[in-house]
Amino acid sequence: MEYDNDENTWRRPSEPKVQRSKCHQIPKRSTTLAVVVLGLAVLSCLLGYCVLSETLPYESKTLRLVIIFFRHGARNPTHSYKSDPFKNYQWPDGFGSLTNLGKLQLYELGKKYRSYYANFINEEYYEKDIYVRSSDKSRCMMSAYTFLAGLFPPTERQMWHPEIPWQPIPVHSLPRELDNIVAGTKPCKIWKAMYEELLAEKNSDPKFTELFDYLSKHTNQSMHSVLDVDFLYSTLLTEQEAGLKLPEWTKNVFPNKMRMPFMLSLALLSYNETLQRFKVGPLLKEIKSSFEESVRHANEEHSLMLYSGHDINVVGLWRTLGYTELLEPEYGASVVLELHEDVEQSTYFVKVFYRNNTKVEVPMEIKLPFCDDPCPYDMFVKYIDSFIPEDWERECQNTDD
Ligand SMILES: *[C@@H]1O[C@H](CO)[C@@H](O)[C@H](O)[C@H]1NC(C)=O
Ligand SMILES: *[C@@H]1O[C@H](CO)[C@@H](O)[C@H](O)[C@H]1NC(C)=O
Ligand SMILES: *[C@@H]1O[C@H](CO)[C@@H](O)[C@H](O)[C@H]1NC(C)=O
Repeated sequence: MEYDNDENTWRRPSEPKVQRSKCHQIPKRSTTLAVVVLGLAVLSCLLGYCVLSETLPYESKTLRLVIIFFRHGARNPTHSYKSDPFKNYQWPDGFGSLTNLGKLQLYELGKKYRSYYANFINEEYYEKDIYVRSSDKSRCMMSAYTFLAGLFPPTERQMWHPEIPWQPIPVHSLPRELDNIVAGTKPCKIWKAMYEELLAEKNSDPKFTELFDYLSKHTNQSMHSVLDVDFLYSTLLTEQEAGLKLPEWTKNVFPNKMRMPFMLSLALLSYNETLQRFKVGPLLKEIKSSFEESVRHANEEHSLMLYSGHDINVVGLWRTLGYTELLEPEYGASVVLELHEDVEQSTYFVKVFYRNNTKVEVPMEIKLPFCDDPCPYDMFVKYIDSFIPEDWERECQNTDD
């Protein structure tokens, strides 16, 4: 559909990245030469040369749907600890808030995806093209908004105020106690029991004893769980990012010795297939239905789905896609799913990418462990299907009958 009209299809990015393109650059001083070179450039563009040289690193003509799940930007700490010298530090906007840097990071990320998908995502925002969902946490909502500011700056037609080069784009969210799609905060009884069992098992691993004791001693509070280490690690990291000088004792353990238990704590929420079914299943259900709409060409299909969540959600999606490597998603880290159509074969396939943070220029393609390369649509859907509960509420045993 996106490719019916050539002009729309190969819409150039608003600020063409000349250095990446093989288009001939126009020398500043010589106008005559410029005209000739421009003529050549236009000619080569007409022949498809210039346009093709500026496409994505792969054949983007097959692209039908892009799904991006990203983590919010830099934030203030969400917790303090007993012996924290910065316990009374006045964090601007308070605990857990998105910082100005965080706003900027996601804005930049939006711009990066804008230029990366310049040939696919319409330059102009159309309501029907895109659907955005966010965790209800303020930092995620705000990250989604600044991401969208970078992705869809208003075109001339869309400017509604002469001084504000920004347009409103809706971001949808469910209250936390109802959200089993993005944040995964909706209560699920069975999941909770399993998670607690697993957490207790990991916490009793003797390899953590020394670290737990050391941290308990120096923080002056109980640190006998990887979850405690998780919170402390995040707090130390955000304090360090804010330019605060961490206490001497942290040097022995932060970040190195604390990183593994920290990453393990993130992973535990979606540690095995059963936990993934409860935590990530409902998201996969939505992803599957977006795929299906796209394949059916149901007139209403979106070409872009965005999800704005937390580190644990990025990890959850990552693990459920079959990657077992422990992950520390940085701010703005994103998992990207692409649905492609091979028009000649009349088949569809799926590609997955990971972008570590907002600075990375091009997302890194990762091979799905359960699938061929490229991954046929049917195989992908069959795999994610195995994680989708028919009746989430009932499987969670949230009701008593
Ligand atoms: C540790 O906590 C105890 C009790 O809350 C307190 O009396 C003591 O001063 C604290 N020590 C440090 C180093 O903060
Ligand atoms: C996942 O872990 C939980 C808690 O230990 C356990 O009850 C469940 O059987 C595990 N599932 C799989 C597929 O191993
Ligand atoms: C980015 O993530 C990949 C996959 O986890 C990893 O192999 C790579 O080292 C990371 N790069 C950076 C700069 O963190």
